[in-house]
Amino acid sequence: MYNIALLPGDGIGPEVIKEAKKVLYAIQERFGIKFNFKEGSVGGAAYEVFGAPLPDDTLNLVKDSDAVLFGAVGGPKWDHLKRELRPEQAILKLRKELNLFANLRPAVCYRFLADSSPLKNNIISGNLDLLIVRELTGGLYFGTPRGRENTGQTVRAFDTMVYTSEEIKRVARVAFEAARKRRKKVTSVDKANVLETSKLWREVVDEVSKEYPDVELSHMYVDNCAMQLVLNPGQFDVILTENTFGDILSDEASVLTGSIGMLPSASIGEKGPFLYEPCHGSAPDIAGKGIANPIACILSAAMMLEYSFDEKEAAMCIKDAVEKSLELGYRTYDIKEGEGKVLATSEMGDVIKKIILGL
Ligand code: NAI
Ligand code: MG
Repeated sequence: MYNIALLPGDGIGPEVIKEAKKVLYAIQERFGIKFNFKEGSVGGAAYEVFGAPLPDDTLNLVKDSDAVLFGAVGGPKWDHLKRELRPEQAILKLRKELNLFANLRPAVCYRFLADSSPLKNNIISGNLDLLIVRELTGGLYFGTPRGRENTGQTVRAFDTMVYTSEEIKRVARVAFEAARKRRKKVTSVDKANVLETSKLWREVVDEVSKEYPDVELSHMYVDNCAMQLVLNPGQFDVILTENTFGDILSDEASVLTGSIGMLPSASIGEKGPFLYEPCHGSAPDIAGKGIANPIACILSAAMMLEYSFDEKEAAMCIKDAVEKSLELGYRTYDIKEGEGKVLATSEMGDVIKKIILGL
């Protein structure tokens, strides 16, 4: 039995979590895997009741679970709050508390959605299926010293990029392990022609690669990678990169796929519980209308089955069911084109559930 902490959060978070849960119940029925769900309060919803975006009760619930499925947090209602009370702090604090140092974002363009990609069919043509492994807890975003100096006439501001060999090693292992389950190719992205951290990055990744002789490693400069993602995204399997580069490249890769409503993610550490969430936010503009695309959250649940529980067949079953629903012409409004059947959030969940159960 797997204990799953469900953290729906704000806006469309609860709407998409409901559909992911529906799909996991279908998996339970079909594969005889048993799930035990417990819900926790998080984000603005938690602030309203407990005065904090990540209450202790929720943190304890999470730490007692085998995996966490997170919806989304935030909204204009809480934008005036000071930093540490804002809903978005919940996700940062969770990553820190659980020591999750690798963020995994697959970008897949489904054959049946290739027209929704800005690159269109000729480049994408069912050709985009990559996984970005981004280091999450080091680099420029956390390095010290950082700050400002006022030197009379001019103001100096500075940030520091720092990596230790241990930080690089552990995230590199995540990338090589992931590649082993895929097409066995890692592209490590850096700026080793300029940055000292990148030189160390390259050395350590080369060293780690010796543990994975079955995985092909290549190195690429980040500026070239930004171009290659648009020119020929099909060349990539797993992209391994540091925090800042990964932030930018994963957003670039995500728009190639069509809609943010389709993109799942996982945050992983040395040991669980790991955290799974759709890449999108709480989408206040469509919250409460029942029209959000639940697929990003449903695919996040599939990643949970794969990475936390090693239930490969069940994970594949969810991915296949999503693809089948698209093939059958079912769409939510964010991926609609032409005459497709546009469904509500819960109807899309129902379609995927029925495909899983063979109904
Ligand atoms: P967003 O991802 O919530 O929305 C961006 C656009 O995409 C909106 O037009 C929205 O309607 C659309 N969209 C997003 N998910 C969709 C889905 N599943 N189906 C259909 N359309 C979808 O990003 P935005 O607007 O920048 O942020 C809104 C709030 O969410 C903010 O408070 C932000 O801080 C928070 N946020 C939270 C995240 C998290 O919980 N991890 C991540 C990103 C933003
Ligand atoms: Mg970003």
